[in-house]
Amino acid sequence: MRKEITRREFLRRSTATGMVVTLGPHLVAPQQPQGRTGPNDAITVGIIGSGARGQELMEAIMKIPGTEIVAVCDAYKGRVRRAIERTKGRAKDYGHYRKILDDKSIDVVVIATPDHWHARQAIEAMQAGKDVYIEKPLTYTIDEGVEIVKVAKSTGRILQVGSNPMSSAIQQKAKEIVASGRLGQITMIRAYYNRNTASGAWIYPIPPDASPETVDWEMFLGPAPKRPFSLERFFRWRCYWDYSGGIPTDLFVHLCTSIHYVMGAKMASSAMAVGALYRWKESREVPDTVNAVLVYPEGFMVNMSTTFNNQRLGGSGFQILGTEGSLEVAGGEIRFYPEIVHEDNGWVVRSWPRELEEAYYSDPKILAMERPETQPPQILEAGEVYREEGIDSTLVHMQRFFESVRTRKPPVQDALMGHRAAACAHMVNLSIKTGKIVYWDFEQENVKKG
Ligand SMILES: NC(=O)c1ccc[n+]([C@@H]2O[C@H](COP(=O)([O-])OP(=O)(O)OC[C@H]3O[C@@H](n4cnc5c(N)ncnc54)[C@H](O)[C@@H]3O)[C@@H](O)[C@H]2O)c1
Repeated sequence: MRKEITRREFLRRSTATGMVVTLGPHLVAPQQPQGRTGPNDAITVGIIGSGARGQELMEAIMKIPGTEIVAVCDAYKGRVRRAIERTKGRAKDYGHYRKILDDKSIDVVVIATPDHWHARQAIEAMQAGKDVYIEKPLTYTIDEGVEIVKVAKSTGRILQVGSNPMSSAIQQKAKEIVASGRLGQITMIRAYYNRNTASGAWIYPIPPDASPETVDWEMFLGPAPKRPFSLERFFRWRCYWDYSGGIPTDLFVHLCTSIHYVMGAKMASSAMAVGALYRWKESREVPDTVNAVLVYPEGFMVNMSTTFNNQRLGGSGFQILGTEGSLEVAGGEIRFYPEIVHEDNGWVVRSWPRELEEAYYSDPKILAMERPETQPPQILEAGEVYREEGIDSTLVHMQRFFESVRTRKPPVQDALMGHRAAACAHMVNLSIKTGKIVYWDFEQENVKKG
């Protein structure tokens, strides 16, 4: 006789055995937040890495009703102190991230450590039953992304990646305009990040009390190669290959996420890039100038560039170029410009025998098409501007994460989406390092090997 088991029992058994519970091609039984006993309990949060971004995320979380930051840990004591102060003493210093993972009363962890830690901490957190909000880039290598996607599926935990600009109202509007077809056929996107300051080039100030007494060097290094104590490496880790992929993983990953979101594209099928270190030579290993081209199977290319030498184009943005219009997404605004074009074969036709030129322009259709100045005046659309005002996208992105934690509905930027955006950045670096075009294997969700 077939023995029925309850859903609760089913979940208990599958989590106890660590078995993958496949309910459909991509569905896994959703696991409830770990520490909650009643629907009205606050969702409890542990912060892993309360650095510059970690504390911005804390500020956002503290604005969200029904959440409570109860734990923090960081490798620099000054940041632990400031983080606890931020919560008015309610959060406790757990010392090490594993202590946060071991505490069954904590539902959610926020991971805002340097990139070389992301995969290990995210995987261990999901295996410990936590839901995870993790900063971009999801990964330090492509293989890590494949693993994170598997663990997110097998554990049924919510994992949301922190590319907040995709939750801005402006990018949602851009997505709507692209989907409406107003831009016509899109074959080209130009994306950029340009900076001309030391802070823009990640040369952040080092706190004056930083020393081997206040900085836990081993905790920072973790899976990275052993190196002598260095405050530059600790506080400016983006400049070194051991902890970061430089411009592509720090900046291009934002552009890739936004472009994937706005265009409804999954992933680049190939990438080629060049990078060089021209200006900030004393402070880093990674290039300060990168030009990359990503090719998408949906039928468009993305040209991505960053210099740390000039910011004439300002901050970051991208221009989506279509046959009927262009859309520029930059600086909290989007601008739509219709394509107003007319044919002009005059310079060719003027070389023909005079009577043939005259005959060509005696056709009223050609005249109308090629000589707009001969037509009655028209009023043409000049463009539209949309500016975002209101709640910051980091808060919206975080609110959407907690909504997923409560409802167990898939997050807006799940592990697969985060893996692909980070993988684009890694493909760019691979191309820079090998001087070759790097191809994506859509079946394996990894680069084509060999
Ligand atoms: N979404 C965004 O717009 C955005 C903005 C800035 C940074 N970020 C991302 O946030 C992450 C952190 O960047 P940041 O600028 O805050 O760097 P940061 O150096 O200011 O902060 C990282 C913190 O992690 C701590 N840390 C290192 N190893 C640790 C460990 N094993 N356990 C606990 N803490 C540890 C460090 O002491 C440091 O305080 C990066 O992945 C970065 O890409 C995202």
